[in-house]
Amino acid sequence: MTVGWSRTETLAGQTHTFTIAIDGPAGAGKGTLARRLSDHYRLNLLDTGLTYRAVAHKLLELGLPLDNVSAAETAARQVELSNLDRTVLSAHAVGEAASKVAVIPSVRRILVEKQRDFAKAPPGAVLDGRDIGTVVCPDADIKLYVTASAEVRARRRLAEIESMGGSADFATILADIERRDERDMGRADSPLKPAADAHLLDTSEMAIEAAFLAAMAIVDDVLAKRNKA
Ligand code: DC
Repeated sequence: MTVGWSRTETLAGQTHTFTIAIDGPAGAGKGTLARRLSDHYRLNLLDTGLTYRAVAHKLLELGLPLDNVSAAETAARQVELSNLDRTVLSAHAVGEAASKVAVIPSVRRILVEKQRDFAKAPPGAVLDGRDIGTVVCPDADIKLYVTASAEVRARRRLAEIESMGGSADFATILADIERRDERDMGRADSPLKPAADAHLLDTSEMAIEAAFLAAMAIVDDVLAKRNKA
């Protein structure tokens, strides 16, 4: 960052809500990056994965199949962005199930509308997910596509499980990650892919602090050009 503004000054000249869209596969570090950026620029934060997880969690709770479209639509309509319980929703099985309900186009439409409303509230927001730069906020001020190799993501996941006192098998985690990537990238509606104008951040060889600094440099550069114009 070379512009030397404080963060409030950085966004002070903006006359519209400011949006940072972050997409990428599971475990690439986009959640941490989104949190760091929202803190730094004082923007609202939405992890859109939680909205799909909330729908999946409801179906699991009701013992309904994940392809029950009308139940999934009802659950999607009931999602309240202010009431997403990360502790409950972060379970691995809920993430797997979320990836399955996320293929239902009508569920996506309902959730995308809520996500767009969230993004519109001043002063703006950082949203992270799979289709933020391509579908939810195609006019976002900044688009980042955060990725890392499947092996690196699996190693990070294993380290996380072990740090919490658990144990898991690397090959099983890797297979899970590859299956999830395939589902998220291969679905017909809003597949995970970088927007044409996204900045790519490969965190395979990068610590989260370095990724944050790189992202901040991209945002500050855009802001500096705007404020000059
Ligand atoms: O980021 P996550 O692991 O919490 O996401 C869970 C699943 O939700 C993911 O595998 C696919 C789906 N998802 C999506 O389809 N679109 C989004 N914008 C966010 C998540």
